[in-house]
Amino acid sequence: MNAERITAHERSLLDSLLEGCQVIDRDWKYIYFNDAAIGHAQQPREALIGKKMWDAYPGINETEMFAKLELVMKERKAERILNQFTYPDGGTGWFELHVQPVPDGILILSQDVTEKHLATEQSDQQIKRLNTLRQIDLAITSGVDLSVVANAVLGHAIRGLGVDAGTILLRQEDSLKMSVAAFHGFNGNHPSEPIKIGDGLAGQAVRQQNIIIAENLDEEPRFLRKDMVTREGFVCYFGAPLISQGKVLGVLEVFHRSPKQNDSAWLEFFEIVAGQVAIAISHMQTFGGLQRAHLELILAYDRTIQGWAKTLELRDIETEGHSKRVTELSDQLGAAMNYSSGEMVNLIRGAMLHDIGKIGIPDSVLLKPDKLNDQEWEQMRRHPIIAYELLFEVDFLKHALDIPRYHHEKWDGSGYPRGLESDLIPQSARIFAVADVWDALRSDRPYRPAWPVDKALAYIKDNRGTHFDPHVVDVFIKEVL
Ligand code: C2E
Ligand code: SIN
Ligand code: SIN
Ligand code: FE
Ligand code: FE
Repeated sequence: MNAERITAHERSLLDSLLEGCQVIDRDWKYIYFNDAAIGHAQQPREALIGKKMWDAYPGINETEMFAKLELVMKERKAERILNQFTYPDGGTGWFELHVQPVPDGILILSQDVTEKHLATEQSDQQIKRLNTLRQIDLAITSGVDLSVVANAVLGHAIRGLGVDAGTILLRQEDSLKMSVAAFHGFNGNHPSEPIKIGDGLAGQAVRQQNIIIAENLDEEPRFLRKDMVTREGFVCYFGAPLISQGKVLGVLEVFHRSPKQNDSAWLEFFEIVAGQVAIAISHMQTFGGLQRAHLELILAYDRTIQGWAKTLELRDIETEGHSKRVTELSDQLGAAMNYSSGEMVNLIRGAMLHDIGKIGIPDSVLLKPDKLNDQEWEQMRRHPIIAYELLFEVDFLKHALDIPRYHHEKWDGSGYPRGLESDLIPQSARIFAVADVWDALRSDRPYRPAWPVDKALAYIKDNRGTHFDPHVVDVFIKEVL
């Protein structure tokens, strides 16, 4: 069959088909195209008719599709082929080909299925992406430890996003720095130095609370980890802030060693993955991580301590606001004596709890409007020991217990319960003693009214070096009063 041998009727039928139709003779020359096929081919009919296929499309005889055409040509049996076709302009389309043997050679009916194919690809991708999110969810609920979960979550994120490598950078609580919580897909190690918020691309992602893209890291002056990029051969970079409940926890960074297509669907998915990762991290920081659980416990304890202090006041064991005032005075004294923040925490907790042992003293003694007799005084002197017995098992209060235990020791060794002397008395207890007595004297007691300032100050000065640490008295007078 050649073009001349097609009847006018056949011809008009083929010509008007919506499907592309082409006929190739046994020498592999194109002998017929309908209009639709010419449209697909994106070449004029004259440039194709009479030409061998590989002259019109160099290299086509090397393709899998061509091998199938050969099979039809030889075996004379119809075939169906899904083929990705590259146009002369470099664009691609997907075609479903029905290849039939005809007397002159083969006839190809072709249908453009590009859109359908992309739709299938997209829904496959969506299923894959959903699966990634599910995997991340599972990692969250199964995790025991932040770094284990961060690593698992990052692995799923990187596979789901189709990138080569990535990191999770997390903000360190009290500083403007981020450290590497997980990295994945690196040949070597990620540099361990913390990254400052505000520096580099990761820093920008945090500051702008936006996805940051660098298509070519080699020419990106804002990216600072140059050695890493060179060593790993990373080409492009995407950084998404990890935001949970309005708080930026850090950055999810992904790297690719070749250019990466980032259509809007991919970027949207990247954003969703970052959201998941942020939830994972925040969940671990709140509930899972041992570190954080410990912190939570401490916060709960601090609330409990404040509650205890309040209870003492409600029972009239303490005059109103005494705990709060001695805590503030201790805080000022500690600061004036250059206490570290760790020592400060224990000083403050200890001050809040200093008379917790009075819980174990009967009201008849505690609230007596008169002088205590020997037996009552014996009982009263037990309150530091009671405090210790009450709290020594609470691990996080270990270092805060010095104050409840030793706040009635005196510099000259005449105090209780141990009769410790000078700097054998823990410093926090020496600091606290000045604050405590000062506030006690300035307050009404069941057994006497509050002392005026002059009288209280004279008492503190008179007992410098006998009751009180002289240095603490000096600091108190100079820096606090
Ligand atoms: P607090 O009332 O909180 O007093 C703490 C510390 O402040 C006392 O420790 C003492 O060093 C000093 N202080 C308080 N009021 C006076 C005072 O009027 N004169 C002098 N010189 N110092 C005072 P201390 O003595 O070890 O007492 C421990 C706790 O025993 C007191 O805590 C208070 O609850 C109770 N207490 C002490 N003396 C009496 C008393 O005469 N009658 C009653 N009912 N309770 C007393
Ligand atoms: C087309 O319909 O032009 C594509 C068929 C082919 O791959 O040659
Ligand atoms: C750094 O590389 O140390 C800063 C972070 C960045 O460039 O993304
Ligand atoms: Fe006391
Ligand atoms: Fe007190």
